[in-house]
Amino acid sequence: MPLISSSSALGRRQFLQAGVACTVAALSRPVLADEKAPADDGLTTTLHAGNAQVRMVGEEYPKTEVWAYNGIEPGPVLRIRQGTPFRATVENGLAEGTTVHWHGIRLPNAMDGVPDLTQKSIAPGGRFEYAFTPPDAGTFWYHSHDDSLIQMGRGLAGALIVGEAEPPQVDRELLWTIQDWRLSRDAQIAPGFNNRMEAAMDGRVGNTATINGRVTGTVRVRAGERIRLRLLNAAIARIMALRFEGHRPVIIALNGQPCEPHEPNDGRILLGPAMRADVMLDMQGEPGRSYRVIDDFYDRLAYTLVRLEYDKAAPTRPHPSDAPLRLPPNPVPRPDLKTASVHEVQLQGGMMSGMGMGGGMMGMGGNAAWAINGQSMTGDGSPGMPPLFEIARGRSCILDMRNDTAWWHPMPLHGHSFQVLDRDGKPEPHDVWGDTVLLRPRERVRVAFVADNPGDWMLHCHVMEHQVGGLMTIIRVA
Ligand code: C2O
Ligand code: CU
Repeated sequence: MPLISSSSALGRRQFLQAGVACTVAALSRPVLADEKAPADDGLTTTLHAGNAQVRMVGEEYPKTEVWAYNGIEPGPVLRIRQGTPFRATVENGLAEGTTVHWHGIRLPNAMDGVPDLTQKSIAPGGRFEYAFTPPDAGTFWYHSHDDSLIQMGRGLAGALIVGEAEPPQVDRELLWTIQDWRLSRDAQIAPGFNNRMEAAMDGRVGNTATINGRVTGTVRVRAGERIRLRLLNAAIARIMALRFEGHRPVIIALNGQPCEPHEPNDGRILLGPAMRADVMLDMQGEPGRSYRVIDDFYDRLAYTLVRLEYDKAAPTRPHPSDAPLRLPPNPVPRPDLKTASVHEVQLQGGMMSGMGMGGGMMGMGGNAAWAINGQSMTGDGSPGMPPLFEIARGRSCILDMRNDTAWWHPMPLHGHSFQVLDRDGKPEPHDVWGDTVLLRPRERVRVAFVADNPGDWMLHCHVMEHQVGGLMTIIRVA
């Protein structure tokens, strides 16, 4: 049962779950990524944002009304090869403005998709052409960056895969775009986004987890095969900690950048909203058995996301594959820590802080529950907001991020990929880079990057209520 049960004691989350459907039959359907090889001469595509009805839960339920790209949920899997051009015409079939942000891609500022900051919002009936050539191979994604809480919360997101020139040897590649929804009993997206209480806590955590747009009971696997599994947390608020019962996944990339292959801490793959992990899975389970993939991030809210169901056939190989795990490096410049300029970024607010919920004690947002360095920049992108700081193009930069709140925050920086230096003073093992880093409550994390991409770039929390509630700022590279 991949739904998140609300039958047991739920503690403080119980009130969030009231009145919401909790029993939906499991579906058995293998979830395969679109295996089409990307073209060498790039990809040109059209994304039409509009209303759609999709089958998200069992056949006995009505279809779910969503906002989607090209009528499917999540949007089409876009596959490009590293260094080849990409063009997407985005057509707005919604009744409100929209933009598309290409999360994690180091692209020109004008293509970044932040309304009022990098472009005008695309009006209803309008269109905009995005064009860029992705320099890095990895697992990325795209999503609306306008009225983001609602537009992403209603489904405007999809995966963007940039393939390596020489991909690692695997038997199969899978992509799981995991989303979290709060559905009513008739399988519709429950109203009530931006509830003030939730917004000042951990956001709108839902009751239904989907893989590639559907509640998914099982994924079929074959003993002996090696699978590259791309995990994408496309939820608006739910943090995930995935455990693969009976297996030892090896993380080979995080948030769009290769890392030293390593097994996760306590065997749990921790993914905040917007975060990705590329995982190598050697299917060493017993033929005919099934194994659970469990998400147990929230206390007392553990649930089975999906089951890996082994075919009865004998293993495809006697020993696990010994092909190398390490991915080829991406051309991300290495910051010079000796000359780097250091900038403190304090994350503030939320419940259990002086700011509380909706105090609006500082900055621009009247109803802000969150702030960065005392300023609350609310919404999706604001014209005229002064940057937190400006840095000369080409300089190395250290962000010294201090989470002064009692909550978790996945923090992406647009237009760059950074190196995670240390957490609470302890060096980060495994040479981890990426566009997003997850901060625990009260944690201090330092990241470093070369500010080589000119423009105004957002730094914000990807729990959407946190972002629109003030946990957002701009860094100017000039
Ligand atoms: Cu997915 Cu401003 O980000
Ligand atoms: Cu946050």
